[in-house]
Amino acid sequence: MIIAVDGPAASGKGTIARALAKHYGLPHLDTGLLYRAVALTVMRLGLDPAVEADAVAACDFDDRLLAEAELRSDPVGQVASIVSAHPLVRASLLQRQRRFAGQPGGAVLDGRDIGTVIAPQADAKLFVKASAQVRARRRYAELHAADPSLGFDKVLADIRARDARDSGRATAPLAQAPDAAPLDTSALSIEAAIARAIEIVEAQR
Ligand code: C5P
Repeated sequence: MIIAVDGPAASGKGTIARALAKHYGLPHLDTGLLYRAVALTVMRLGLDPAVEADAVAACDFDDRLLAEAELRSDPVGQVASIVSAHPLVRASLLQRQRRFAGQPGGAVLDGRDIGTVIAPQADAKLFVKASAQVRARRRYAELHAADPSLGFDKVLADIRARDARDSGRATAPLAQAPDAAPLDTSALSIEAAIARAIEIVEAQR
């Protein structure tokens, strides 16, 4: 069984995907980490993520990067959303994601284009969303402890900027697949969101 979980930043898709993987005993891939690894490589090489598209795509990142804590930082997320708009970057990561999805027994993948591009044949598809205010509040709660100088308005502006870039790009934009079930987590606890996600998968498979 392949389960595709897509949605914008801080929607809860990662938490839901991990919980589904545990529930069904399936391997899980957070595909955002791949784009973040390209972004961190670009940042360390001092390349301009917006213009040096070919060089960015050629960045064959070191898999050890996937375990680095810095990968999950907000600045890396912002650069990830810039490099991920390059069609060559997306093409360079496509096979790796399809191989993961094609494992015997299946897999859970979360990202922006799993149900639309990576695994359109998925057995279950969720599109996880929440209002920008709610997502910014979640992100702020996570980030503020580490950096007390960070203001809520900055976090909200960053979420909106990332939404606009991810939804507005020409190649594989963030979009709900026609056969994906929407799951709005704005007013749900984590437990309630996971329970609802399992109900949706059970109804679709
Ligand atoms: O999900 P996460 O916030 O880690 O993703 C970082 C960035 O990587 C996103 O803002 C998006 O631009 C890009 N991404 C993507 N396609 C995916 C997963 C992530 O374009 N499947």
